[in-house]
Amino acid sequence: MTSFESLIRAMPDFPKPGVVFRDITPLLADAGGFARCIDAMAEPWQGSEVQAVCGIESRGFIFGAALAQKLHAGFVPLRKPGKLPPPVVEVEYQLEYGSDRLQARSDALRPGERTLIVDDVLATGGTLAAARDLVVRLGGELVGAAVLIELDALRGRERWPNGVPLHALLHY
Ligand code: PRP
Ligand code: ADE
Repeated sequence: MTSFESLIRAMPDFPKPGVVFRDITPLLADAGGFARCIDAMAEPWQGSEVQAVCGIESRGFIFGAALAQKLHAGFVPLRKPGKLPPPVVEVEYQLEYGSDRLQARSDALRPGERTLIVDDVLATGGTLAAARDLVVRLGGELVGAAVLIELDALRGRERWPNGVPLHALLHY
């Protein structure tokens, strides 16, 4: 059976010198590998009564939508600016290689809705912190976050609150 690691390609100096880009497209293209990856990402949350999965544009949509199905939860897209019709809530955040903004529909979550945030990569942690701010502003109850890859050296986990579960399948 092919390991998840062997299905993720390391691309040095992309998109900027000094960044090692972790390319997930070979994993997505492998039917069995992708299915096992979703099973493994979902496993820690079985029994957590997740009601909504917030996936972060764009790679977070791929894993988030699949996890929402697996966990029998709804899917809420957290989107880059200008994509969602108003009214929206918005947060600005820093990336490993730039800055960006994230928006959600103001009525995306019901009050107290049990919410899991999903993305592909945790790097500096800015994106996940922004998603967390959005969930709080939307009135959701944050259950935790699931990522496929955590880049340990960038210490993004330090920006995530202690005591709120954050699961990563792979560490580099
Ligand atoms: C990437 C990745 C995460 C984020 C992690 O998103 O998909 O969302 O960076 O970085 P951080 O922990 O330093 O915030 P990107 O903005 O490149 O978007 P994409 O998914 O559309 O490719
Ligand atoms: N998002 C932020 N940093 C990344 C990296 N090194 N590889 C893939 N996606 C990323």
